[in-house]
Amino acid sequence: MSNATEVNAGLEGVVAAATRVSHVDGLAGKLVISGYPLETIAPNATFEEMAWLLWHGKVPSQKEYADFKAQLTAARDIPSLAYDLLRAAAEKKLHAMDALRMAAGTLSLQNTTDSPGGDIERDAVLLLATFPTIAAAYSRLLEGKQPVAPRSDLGHAANYLYMMFDEVPSAERARGLETYLNTVSDHGLNASTFTARVIMSTQSDAISAVIGALGALKGPLHGGAPGPALDMVFEIGEISRAEGYVKDKLARGERMMGFGHRVYKVRDPRADVLSKAAAQFFASGGDKKMYDLACQVETVVIRLLEEHKPGRKLQTNVEYYTALLLHGLGLAVPAFTPTFAVGRVAGWLAHCFEQKRESRIIRPSSTYVGEYDTPWVPLEKR
Ligand SMILES: CC(C)(COP(=O)(O)OP(=O)(O)OC[C@H]1O[C@@H](n2cnc3c(N)ncnc32)[C@H](O)[C@@H]1OP(=O)(O)O)[C@@H](O)C(=O)NCCC(=O)NCCS
Repeated sequence: MSNATEVNAGLEGVVAAATRVSHVDGLAGKLVISGYPLETIAPNATFEEMAWLLWHGKVPSQKEYADFKAQLTAARDIPSLAYDLLRAAAEKKLHAMDALRMAAGTLSLQNTTDSPGGDIERDAVLLLATFPTIAAAYSRLLEGKQPVAPRSDLGHAANYLYMMFDEVPSAERARGLETYLNTVSDHGLNASTFTARVIMSTQSDAISAVIGALGALKGPLHGGAPGPALDMVFEIGEISRAEGYVKDKLARGERMMGFGHRVYKVRDPRADVLSKAAAQFFASGGDKKMYDLACQVETVVIRLLEEHKPGRKLQTNVEYYTALLLHGLGLAVPAFTPTFAVGRVAGWLAHCFEQKRESRIIRPSSTYVGEYDTPWVPLEKR
């Protein structure tokens, strides 16, 4: 006997929340962040302005901006236990997202309330402020270097690069990273954001919600694609090898990392913003040869994907240019997904604030497809 009804695998097309945080128009290839078209805001706002906008639905006044920056700057340090965990993780060469998740858990030590929902305002500032400290420290530890303490005289993006490389970055480098962080700060009800909202809907706290979201972001189908996308460009090495390389991969049933998207059926608008940022950045330095090769490889992959899945319109997604930009900034591949989290945590938290205002727990249904009335056989008779 079965009560199977149609299952919407992947929840495609299911509307599970009303949000003012961002809007993804997959057919037109448009992303709106709290009222602003992505291409208007990402290259212009500081990351602090972006986070404020996401959390409050409007850009900050000068006073609000100064106060918010001061709050974030004061919260950049992480507990010594977090450094101990990061060192232990680096010794075992753990995945950088596991290290980020473990260290983020220590932020609960700073809890000042015994309410199960915590203090969301305080948790949000802590999470946003400390993610760069954790991600940079772990990246350095993995390379056998000592972590660099945060500086209070640098903006969020510049301070992240400073902690990563122990050198104050140029304005162009800081801008390149800032545009990246803004670009990935929110993107509709993606898997990690949905995860955060589910956890928040149980009246749990924002640290728990963000840690759940980190787990979802780790997967290669979500935030883990830029590393493999970059590997592909390196493995191809020169454009004459691109066609054969891509055809072989597709014939083996493999996916081209950095291409295809659940929602976009045209080019991902974030890829456009990032490719402009990358072009600007590579014009003034970085591995220009590699950048030019990647642009040529992109054209070949799109053509071959169209032959492979005609009409499916598999186009470049955010991860491809993420890989190029972050590589250009000198970040090592293991730091790519944590850097995505440094940006996306602003959006997760905006959704946590929004979800907290809803009083309804998220609880979908499932269709049972197992057996009924199975007789019990005691262990000794099995
Ligand atoms: C992002 C992604 C998971 C979207 O998945 P989705 O909406 O479920 O797409 P589907 O799995 O329905 O894809 C439709 C078809 O195109 C194929 N396809 C999708 N993306 C592909 C890719 N990057 N390379 C090769 N084939 C791809 C699928 O195999 C599928 O084929 P099938 O119908 O024979 O099963 C998928 O495009 C992907 O795996 N991309 C590579 C990973 C990546 O870049 N992730 C970052 C996303 S921002």
